[in-house]
Amino acid sequence: MFSLPLQLLLAIFILKISDSQKITFQNVTIKWKNNSKIKTTIASADNLKKIIPSEEEVSVLVKGDVPVLYEQSVYDIHNLTSLRLDSVHLGEIKPGAFGNLPLLRSLDLSFNQLTEIKSGTFTNLNLSEINLGSNRIRSLRPGAFKNVTVQELKLGENSLTEIPSGVFDNVAVSNLNLGFNSIHTVAPNTLSTISLTNLVLSHNQLETFDLEILGNPELTSLDLNDNLIKFLRPGDLKDLPRLNKLILSNNKLTEIPDGVFKNTNIAELRLQGNKIAKISTKAFDDMPKLHLVDISMNDVTLWDSDWLAGSSEPLVFLFASNKISEIPGEAFKNYHRLGLLNLSNNKIAMISMKAFRKLPHIGVLDLSSNEIDNWSPDLLANVNITRIDLRMNRLKCIEENLDKVFGNGPTKVLC
Ligand SMILES: *[C@@H]1O[C@H](CO)[C@@H](O)[C@H](O)[C@H]1NC(C)=O
Ligand SMILES: *[C@@H]1O[C@H](CO)[C@@H](O)[C@H](O)[C@H]1NC(C)=O
Ligand SMILES: *[C@@H]1O[C@H](CO)[C@@H](O)[C@H](O)[C@H]1NC(C)=O
Ligand SMILES: *[C@@H]1O[C@H](CO)[C@@H](O)[C@H](O)[C@H]1NC(C)=O
Ligand SMILES: *[C@@H]1O[C@H](CO)[C@@H](O)[C@H](O)[C@H]1NC(C)=O
Ligand SMILES: *[C@@H]1O[C@H](CO)[C@@H](O)[C@H](O)[C@H]1NC(C)=O
Ligand SMILES: *[C@@H]1O[C@H](CO)[C@@H](O)[C@H](O)[C@H]1NC(C)=O
Repeated sequence: MFSLPLQLLLAIFILKISDSQKITFQNVTIKWKNNSKIKTTIASADNLKKIIPSEEEVSVLVKGDVPVLYEQSVYDIHNLTSLRLDSVHLGEIKPGAFGNLPLLRSLDLSFNQLTEIKSGTFTNLNLSEINLGSNRIRSLRPGAFKNVTVQELKLGENSLTEIPSGVFDNVAVSNLNLGFNSIHTVAPNTLSTISLTNLVLSHNQLETFDLEILGNPELTSLDLNDNLIKFLRPGDLKDLPRLNKLILSNNKLTEIPDGVFKNTNIAELRLQGNKIAKISTKAFDDMPKLHLVDISMNDVTLWDSDWLAGSSEPLVFLFASNKISEIPGEAFKNYHRLGLLNLSNNKIAMISMKAFRKLPHIGVLDLSSNEIDNWSPDLLANVNITRIDLRMNRLKCIEENLDKVFGNGPTKVLC
């Protein structure tokens, strides 16, 4: 006889509990700016809408603990332009938490404890930035970003191991940062469909340079620093016609074969800190925009005088900390406008008397920390050079008049 009302009571009680559990904003401080800075403490609100002012445009900062963003907690706010919910111990975002935010441009959810971005978390948004960096995100679900346009999506410093297919379907992202995760797998055609211009995948666990992942006609900058990439193959870059900057430093490359970079528009190529022992003769041919090549900290032993045929841009060529022992004749004949050549910390003991032939101009030539024991004034007789560094070799200081030694040459010799 008592059982029915008791059940009812219980049901009401449970309803009340689950209701109060759906309050997203409890005892938080909200700051916003119009002409002056306003700060107010909120005891309890289920939607941010109820606590922000009626202004033309509002930019809001929430301080305090927000463990869960419940459905519709940031919803239907027509004048919200920017929302900072960083460092609020946020552990979960329910699908549908965000919606109907036509003016929202910047959403900062960084430095929280998010582990998963569920399907339907971000829908129908058009922003300049979503920052999900420095969380603990292990999983991005397909549909996590639906009909989202965002200039910059930051997902760095999380715990992602893979990017499954469908995560970025129907999404437009220009700059995507996935650096400092543990990504070893990217599903084919997941990143190649979202009109990226800048992609950061540095500090991950990728083992292959895979065009199915990276092929993207708009991509101009690709950062793969500190991965586990072992090989580059001819044609690897053929579907990246706009690529201007390629960072492959600190990988496991041992060789640069012919044809990888041929006919690309790469201006900046960073290959430092690999284990490259061999660079094929035509490795850097037909790169009409090439401006900076960094091969420092590798294991190259032989200088090839035929590298860089057809280079035409002013060049910075960084070759420090390799194992070159000899500079052969006409070693720089293809380097028409050499701004900086850094050969410091190699094993150079022999320099051909014809080494600098057909090199009309060098800005700075760094030959420091080698094993040069003899320097002939004739070496640079016909080269227009600004500065040469010969410190830490086996030379005694050159005692002749420097102008005489170097002809029209360097204004400064360091030794
Ligand atoms: C509200 O937050 C402040 C600062 O975080 C804290 O000192 C205070 O105890 C909290 N009050 C309640 C009722 O939780
Ligand atoms: C700023 O917002 C507060 C709170 O809504 C309001 O009282 C004040 O008039 C506003 N100031 C200006 C300059 O709009
Ligand atoms: C939003 O701003 C418009 C002007 O751009 C104003 O007319 C409207 O009242 C504001 N709405 C709210 C909810 O503050
Ligand atoms: C996609 O999102 C925009 C807002 O960025 C919205 O105006 C549009 O209606 C959405 N399209 C669909 C099909 O939901
Ligand atoms: C997104 O907003 C920008 C202006 O902030 C606008 O130019 C662009 O057309 C919008 N894109 C979409 C898909 O709504
Ligand atoms: C050449 O490279 C070494 C090692 O990276 C560096 O210490 C040195 O400053 C560089 N020289 C010039 C002129 O940039
Ligand atoms: C050397 O190069 C500098 C800078 O490019 C230039 O101004 C100067 O005229 C050149 N000198 C000779 C002798 O070619």
